[in-house]
Amino acid sequence: MRILVTGGAGYIGSHCVRQLIQDGQDVVVIDNLSRGHRNAIHRDSAFYQLDLSDTKQMAAVMREHEVEAVMHFAALSYVCESVRHPRRYLQNNTAGTIHLLEAMEVAGVKRFVFSSTCSTYGIPERLPLHEQSPQRPCNPYGQSKLLVEKMLRDLVAADPSFGCITLRYFNVAGCSADGELGEDHDPHLRIIPILMETALGRRNSFTVNGDDFATPDGTCIRDYIHVDDICSAHRLALDGVRSGEAQFFNVGLGHGYSVNEVIASVSRVTQKAIPVLIGPRREGDPSELFADSQRIRTELGWAPRFTKLDDIVETAWRWFKTHPEGYRSRLTTHDALTSHATQIRHLDADLIEQQFATR
Ligand SMILES: NC(=O)c1ccc[n+]([C@@H]2O[C@H](COP(=O)([O-])OP(=O)(O)OC[C@H]3O[C@@H](n4cnc5c(N)ncnc54)[C@H](O)[C@@H]3O)[C@@H](O)[C@H]2O)c1
Repeated sequence: MRILVTGGAGYIGSHCVRQLIQDGQDVVVIDNLSRGHRNAIHRDSAFYQLDLSDTKQMAAVMREHEVEAVMHFAALSYVCESVRHPRRYLQNNTAGTIHLLEAMEVAGVKRFVFSSTCSTYGIPERLPLHEQSPQRPCNPYGQSKLLVEKMLRDLVAADPSFGCITLRYFNVAGCSADGELGEDHDPHLRIIPILMETALGRRNSFTVNGDDFATPDGTCIRDYIHVDDICSAHRLALDGVRSGEAQFFNVGLGHGYSVNEVIASVSRVTQKAIPVLIGPRREGDPSELFADSQRIRTELGWAPRFTKLDDIVETAWRWFKTHPEGYRSRLTTHDALTSHATQIRHLDADLIEQQFATR
């Protein structure tokens, strides 16, 4: 299949591109490189440095490559940033997805897999969270994704030839098992990368945001899912899309680990002591979040390969200890840059105008 992957230079997108290519699919990546890395883009994919706001160029790329399906990872995804800059999140994530869907319509692409998040649920009334749990996001990031989910329901109702699957991920963690691809955010805001930086001595200590939650050890519990297991969910979703249907699946292990358990795991795997400070709770942090992932297991046949926290952490450690500077540490930087520079093509402006004129 010919698949367009948005955000293929980012953490999850780059892992998925690699799995798709290993699986024999043809992949085109678009990414504006605002948060991603040119060096993370697979050399066997075509790459266009494009923003989601550029409907015409995206449609032209889809036409040029005869794209059959779109996997949409490109987004901004930091809760705290979204609280400070809500318009940025609506613009990039919600409006950006509208532009992408419009480009798909122009190019006649009818199959869509969308990256959503457990943040659309907000503070849970009951656990585990299943797909019908109430969705009441408590920050603009979750809201920006929920608006897209709602729009997708309307789109399939309006166009029965269009079909989509939304995957609501829980906490994605770990890196490719061979240490070739990893997580490189600046700054790191997620727990395992921060603990990795602490283990590497790049931070003096790790701060626990509250130890007085109603959990067995007082620290928050979250459901950690390995990035490669997210990718296998995507691969299955691609085949599971049905025309005229908007389907929604949680992707998580189905149980959680506390912050203290994650710290202990990192300490075990890295063989380093992690100095810990106790800080105040963050506003709106639920004490526990974990998924009911039965639907994706039953309906798409998904099963996670990484079910133990230490195994997930082990893959992260392999990446962080060999790439302390993230993708800047890669020896192949120069080669990768040169090979991709030749692939970035800017499509003919007249051709694009023609495509829109004939709509
Ligand atoms: N990482 C997680 O734990 C997690 C959890 C739930 C959902 N998600 C979702 O998964 C997806 C991927 O997350 P990630 O952690 O890989 O993020 P990431 O920041 O590593 O990757 C996102 C990529 O999208 C690109 N991008 C952003 N806005 C763009 C735009 N307007 N035009 C073109 N490219 C753009 C960035 O440059 C980056 O390469 C996101 O949609 C995110 O909301 C992630």
